Amino acid sequence: MLTPLVAEAINKQVSNELFGAYVYTALNIYFDGIALPGFASWMAKQSIEELEHAEKLIRFLLDHDEAVTYEPVPTPPQTYTSIENALETVMEVETRNTSQIREIYHLASKNASHSVEILMRWFIEQQGFEEKFARDALQRVRLAGADKGALLVLDQQFGARNRS
Ligand SMILES: [Fe+2]
Repeated sequence: MLTPLVAEAINKQVSNELFGAYVYTALNIYFDGIALPGFASWMAKQSIEELEHAEKLIRFLLDHDEAVTYEPVPTPPQTYTSIENALETVMEVETRNTSQIREIYHLASKNASHSVEILMRWFIEQQGFEEKFARDALQRVRLAGADKGALLVLDQQFGARNRS
């Protein structure tokens, strides 16, 4: 069993991860709609990754004999004004996710919940990779600007991105 505050925080994080998956699904649809299949497939992969994160947290709760409380999942943003705007949304989602995970880590430390600290270290490391990739992607889209050829090259590169 975990302390109630820690169990509650992990349950909330399940919803945060599902929200991430939902946002990436919306972004997959956005990029599909503007005929950028590489960006779209990157978003689809990210969506699956967020679902896997939610599953990892659920498994952790169950392994510790804790209830899964099914917190609500907010609606993702439904319109994106540009490729840059879409990638800014990715950055926002990832940085918010990092701070939510850090909060759980601090809460776990305060409650001497060592198994949660270990779990959160894994998540913090993953967030480091995700933030770096998202930051670089946004930077490259900004560099490409209105150059359609450069955007198509980026589309190919993102389409070839392996799962981290
Ligand atoms: Fe995640």
